[in-house]
This record gives sequence, structure tokens and C-alpha cells, in this order.
Amino acid sequence: VDKIPAAIFGASGMVGQRFVAMLEGHPQIELSAVYSSERSKGKRLTDIWRLPESMLEEDTGSLKLEKLDVEDAVKRKIKIAFGAVPADLAKTVEVEAAKSGLAVFSNASAYRMDELTPILIPEINYEHLKIVELQKKKRGTKGFIVTNANCSVTGLSVALKPLIEKFSFKKVFVSTYQAISGAGYPGVPSLDINANCLPYIKNEEDKMNREGRKILGTFDGKTIVPRDIEIWANCVRVPSRDGHLEAVTIQLDGKIPSASDIAEAFSSFTGVPQRLKLPTAPAKPIILRLEDNRPQPILDALAGSPGRARGMAVSVGRIRLDGDLLRFFCLVHNTIRGSAGGSILNAECAIHDGMI
Ligand SMILES: NC(=O)c1ccc[n+]([C@@H]2O[C@H](COP(=O)([O-])OP(=O)(O)OC[C@H]3O[C@@H](n4cnc5c(N)ncnc54)[C@H](OP(=O)(O)O)[C@@H]3O)[C@@H](O)[C@H]2O)c1
Repeated sequence: VDKIPAAIFGASGMVGQRFVAMLEGHPQIELSAVYSSERSKGKRLTDIWRLPESMLEEDTGSLKLEKLDVEDAVKRKIKIAFGAVPADLAKTVEVEAAKSGLAVFSNASAYRMDELTPILIPEINYEHLKIVELQKKKRGTKGFIVTNANCSVTGLSVALKPLIEKFSFKKVFVSTYQAISGAGYPGVPSLDINANCLPYIKNEEDKMNREGRKILGTFDGKTIVPRDIEIWANCVRVPSRDGHLEAVTIQLDGKIPSASDIAEAFSSFTGVPQRLKLPTAPAKPIILRLEDNRPQPILDALAGSPGRARGMAVSVGRIRLDGDLLRFFCLVHNTIRGSAGGSILNAECAIHDGMI
């Protein structure tokens, strides 16, 4: 079978490089073009490579970065654009790509809250993908935009999904311990973050509430109706490299389950991508850790199997129940499940549904 030609918009960045690594050897998608700004133009991927755990094949490493140009992508018959550029640029360039017939899988916040654009996490809301038909019709575009969520709310939403299906609650409190790579490259100045914590990440706390409500909401055939919950977040940048750890407290209503009911809900959780055996779907979307000191970014950020799904599983641990208060930790790899890997899984869903 012929592979579908894809490009990365912003291939030299933190998320862009993850895309490159995860698309190597992909069974359905061929990486055909890598775009960046004028600054990196002409450099080979191997010249800018900063992911220590993913060494590139020679062919991929020698791909040259070109200045982002949608017309050039169209000329080269690119069908999929993986978006990893800053939000202000995404706002113009992703629409241009959708108008030109490309299927855009975006990591930027620009269109996440757009009424005709899904924030797709297919284990949670596969059916939201259908809104893309309305997007194309109403906007008159040949292509479309699908977004994935802010990286912190991705981990939280995956952990909340099995609970919200079985138990009743409306209030979620979360404190995050977010890795440096979440701020892109070069990101936070080293003198600010080395041996320090920064208790402010611009717009992050609001995004967690807004996006979480939409992700966990329902598509009624016309619109995505947000879930009736409130997420109260405190977001902190910490000096870990990859993987956002989150301390979650939920106020349960109604009948209170036991801690083992909660553990069972996490460990038995599965979704449509698992049933479809999509290439980047982790066999288990949630990995429950029973040790007292897990999950940890260094030990658990790359959780997930098979190999192509490394970093796609969310780890959960330290479940505690006191009266109506449930507490646990969750951990998500911010540039894999929280961005590049999430987008690739979304593209696999669209390919499965015959949308590309
Ligand atoms: N890091 C994360 O964990 C994470 C998670 C979820 C979502 N996101 C979102 O994903 C996007 C990318 O984040 P990142 O962390 O990868 O950022 P980054 O490391 O700063 O990379 C930004 C990329 O965009 C390119 N770019 C910047 N300005 C451009 C321009 N005018 N024209 C063409 N290309 C341009 C850069 O190219 P040059 O190298 O040439 O400058 C680089 O490839 C952002 O919207 C971010 O909010 C990030």
C-alpha cells in the first residue's frame, strides 16, 4: 500500500522533532517535507537534533529544513500537515493549509476552542471527529483542522475519563509539575529554572479548565456540548526534562466507590484506538503503578507499548480515598501523548475513517 505523504510545520522545534522521530518507519504515513522558519532553513535534521533517546536513521537525518510555505506543500502533493508552530502563526497557516485541501493535525492553541474544531483524544472522544464534516461544509474547505489538547490537560483528561463514566463528580483540583520541554526550545532561561520552580505558566490554568470541559463533552450531531465539571488548576514549571506530573484531587458526589473500584476503573480502561489496533495506540492507555513513589517523570514518562506507542500511556498512581475526596497522581509525556504522538494517533483515526 502507498503511504500518505506528510509534512511537519515547525519540524525543528521540541514538538516537531518528536514528530520526526515518531514518523520514522510509520506503516501508513511517509514524512516527505520538513518546514521551519527562515532561521533554520537549509539545515539538515541531524544538525538541529536534540532528542537524546531517538537517534535518526541516515535518510531522515539528511532531510533539509525548508521555509514554511503551504503552496510548496501542495505542489509536493502533501496530504497531511502536522502542526508544531507557535499559535499566532498556526492561526493563519493552518487555515491556509485546510483551504488548500490538507488534513491538518495541530498542536497549537489557536483553533482548540473553535466551535467546529475538535480537540481529539480518541480514547475519550473519538466521535468528536465527526464535527470535521460540518467544519468542511460550513467553511467551504477541502481539507480540515483537528487539534489536540494542551499537554497537561491531556494527561488529566485521560485519567478522568474512566472515572467520569462510572462515578459522579463536578469538582477537580489539580497541581502540575511541568517539564522544561513543555516550553519549547530554548524555552525557560536556565538561570530561572535550574534548581528552582516557577509557579506561573501563562494561560495554562484557564486552558486546563476550558479544554478539559470540551474534551470530556459530548457531540450532539451539531455542536460539542461541554461537560459540566470545573477544573481548578495550579500550574508550576519544574526542572524535569520531559513528562508532566499532576497531583489530582476530586470531590466525589453521590455513592462513594471503594479505592479498589477506582483502581479497577483505571486499569481496565480502554478505547476505540485500542479496539482498532491503530499503530500508535498504546495497548493500555492508562498504566496503574502500585509503588509508593510512582509515577516519576524519569521512570515513567515513556510508558506505553508496543515500541511505536512508547510515551503514549498515561501513568496513574498513589490512589487515596478519604471520605468524598479522591486523590491520585498522573503523569503524561508532554511531547509524545501530549503533542506529537497524540496528533499522529489522531491522523490514524482520520485515515481509518477514510477522511484522508
Ligand atoms: N512543548 C510541548 O510540550 C507542547 C505541548 C503541546 C503543544 N505545544 C504547542 O506546539 C507548538 C510548538 O511547540 P514547541 O514546544 O515545539 O515550540 P518550539 O520548540 O519553540 O518550536 C517552534 C517551531 O516553530 C517554528 N517557527 C517559529 N516561527 C516560525 C515562522 N515564523 N515561520 C515558520 N516556522 C516558525 C520554529 O522554527 P525555527 O527552529 O526555525 O525557529 C520551530 O520549528 C506551540 O504552538 C506549542 O504551544 C507544545
